[in-house]
Amino acid sequence: MAFWFENKDTEEEIQVVGPMDPHGLALLEHIRTGQAQWFDYFYHGSKVPSMTLCSSMYLEPSDAQIEVVKRTVALCRGKILDIGAGGGFAALILQDSGMDVTALDISTYCVKAMESIGVNNCVIGDIREYKESKYDTLILLDSVLGCAGSIEGISILLKHLSTLLLDGGQILLHDGMVESGVRVFEWSGYFQYKHYLGESFQWCNISADKLTEIAGQIGLDVTLPYEDDIEGRYLARLVFS
Ligand SMILES: C[S@@+](CC[C@H](N)C(=O)[O-])C[C@H]1O[C@@H](n2cnc3c(N)ncnc32)[C@H](O)[C@@H]1O
Repeated sequence: MAFWFENKDTEEEIQVVGPMDPHGLALLEHIRTGQAQWFDYFYHGSKVPSMTLCSSMYLEPSDAQIEVVKRTVALCRGKILDIGAGGGFAALILQDSGMDVTALDISTYCVKAMESIGVNNCVIGDIREYKESKYDTLILLDSVLGCAGSIEGISILLKHLSTLLLDGGQILLHDGMVESGVRVFEWSGYFQYKHYLGESFQWCNISADKLTEIAGQIGLDVTLPYEDDIEGRYLARLVFS
């Protein structure tokens, strides 16, 4: 793979890490220093950062993020798995509400970040392969479903998630980020934080109507307890018919 970036910020040698680790390392450094950290996202083939992201987005949620979490918490019940839990703020809210929550993330550094803010039950793992336990509620906030990488991948991931559900279980997911009229947005690229360069990854965002179509093909009914105006984002609840 060709890397286009220049290592401007540091004299340290570039270190290749897991796809999500630059994000996790930035969160961990934010918690350690109390200072917001910035990391870049490069679309595949781009010579300049396509986006610069701030660790605060995952540790100091905005009012809109809090609103989504509150609505999710109101629907949660039983044994809960927070998938792609990131900085762990949603898991902490669930834990502080007395709920039985486990926070899972593929990045070791995200898990260290969650542990350091006080999330009790954390697991490092790739949801696409995870099968350690079954749950009453699976939550995927802030487009985590996209880790499936493609529209076919989302179908496979939904089938896999349905095997992790206890009888009567539910999946709650927050997705969107597709332009009006666009139903599927597949993209690939990589993150960089300081001298840490993430391996490339693929992601996929889908509209609520496309999700309803795909989920229906595997027997899952979709309702939308909440839709917001920002980039067509929605909270969806999936249950077996
Ligand atoms: C956009 S962030 C969302 C974080 C958090 N859910 C939130 O609402 O702030 C996506 C998270 O998913 C994690 N992730 C990506 N692919 C994953 C996978 N295959 N299995 C588990 N976690 C994954 C990333 O490490 C990252 O923390």
